[in-house]
Amino acid sequence: MNNHRLFELVTPVVFAHRGASKFAPENTIASFRSALEMGALALELDITLTRDGEVVVIHDDTVDRTTGGAGAVADLDLAEIKRLDAGIGFSPEFKGEKIPTLQEVFAFVQDKALINIELKNAGKRNAELVQKALDLVTSMHMQETIIFSSFYPYNVRMVRELLPECPVGLLTLPGIPGRLEILFSSRLSPDMIHPHYSNLSAAFIQKQHARLRRVHTYTVNEPALIRKMIDWEVDGFFCDDLITAQRVFIDTH
Ligand code: G3P
Ligand code: CA
Repeated sequence: MNNHRLFELVTPVVFAHRGASKFAPENTIASFRSALEMGALALELDITLTRDGEVVVIHDDTVDRTTGGAGAVADLDLAEIKRLDAGIGFSPEFKGEKIPTLQEVFAFVQDKALINIELKNAGKRNAELVQKALDLVTSMHMQETIIFSSFYPYNVRMVRELLPECPVGLLTLPGIPGRLEILFSSRLSPDMIHPHYSNLSAAFIQKQHARLRRVHTYTVNEPALIRKMIDWEVDGFFCDDLITAQRVFIDTH
């Protein structure tokens, strides 16, 4: 794992959240292309399974919000999903953009950036989703540029056991539920913790560093918050607005 690209990147690592999602439709090739063109060294995306067992890149359980279609991803086959337009709702210039498979994103990004894969699928076909993602990472030789995260300890544990070359993080909720998850995370012992920024403090980050655990926080877009994360020496943050993040870095250095 020490050969992993994550450890070579200057911190804080800025993860383009769902790609450059302020500027292009989230979790599409257009969004990942924009992020790379803006100089992103790390991307974030979400995966789930179609009815016919394909791994697709989409945040929600349903296609409703991001396409003109309707229904749960788990109830649709890949061929049906590929007929949907994932771009026009964002802006007419992205008309015809599709929901990509994870394989298509890997083929597009190659080793140009690190990718944080968030494993969705709460309690539904988890093992199938995780296994298929791990198999794809291995068969496409992407181990050194992929990290994983999930809100579900089962997924975190499975990645740790089956593909220890890839760092894996536990995502935690905002507020008291998140604080409790962090408290109980020591038994799971993830390589990284991905908390909501509202549960962070400089002392918390130092404590995690003392345990050799990285802290990547979500979703940080406001300049004042970005400055605070830099001051607190967070290891990375998920960001929709790469231009604002770059401006803050220029002003800070
Ligand atoms: O991985 C950080 C962030 O993506 C988690 O929240 O809802 O945007 O997937 P969400
Ligand atoms: Ca996510």
